[in-house]
Amino acid sequence: MRTDRRQFLLSSAVATGLASAGALLASIVGRYLYPRAGVRRTRQLYVAPASEVPPGTGRPFTLPDGGTALIANTDGGYAALSNLCPHLGCKVHWEETERHFVCPCHDGIFDADGAAVSGPPADEGQQLTRYQVVQVGDHLFLELDEVVEV
Ligand code: FES
Repeated sequence: MRTDRRQFLLSSAVATGLASAGALLASIVGRYLYPRAGVRRTRQLYVAPASEVPPGTGRPFTLPDGGTALIANTDGGYAALSNLCPHLGCKVHWEETERHFVCPCHDGIFDADGAAVSGPPADEGQQLTRYQVVQVGDHLFLELDEVVEV
């Protein structure tokens, strides 16, 4: 009788373990076969009053992921570009007098649209990551696209 009870408890524990493992496996397979759909949305981040970025000037802006975008008031309007050089990752800055972006590490130069025009980045056909900048009245916003799980 005692052995039967022990046998029953052991069998119950094994059955429970197998059921749990099966449910976990089914969950993993289900997520693989039917991944969750994400919703794309555009997030607007306030940068600064436009009057604080007069023509020819630029200013850094910290992104939510800790990176930095450079907001520049170029001859063609506002531009927002990553400050990370695509060559080897040095920090790029806006050159107000020349109105272009400069990477000091290997003299990489990028135009106001972020396309490399000289130095190793130009040789490799690279460009700075570009962000969308929007002006609403006297306010500048950065628009970031992101996917949000539902
Ligand atoms: S890291 Fe920028 S030019 Fe080399």
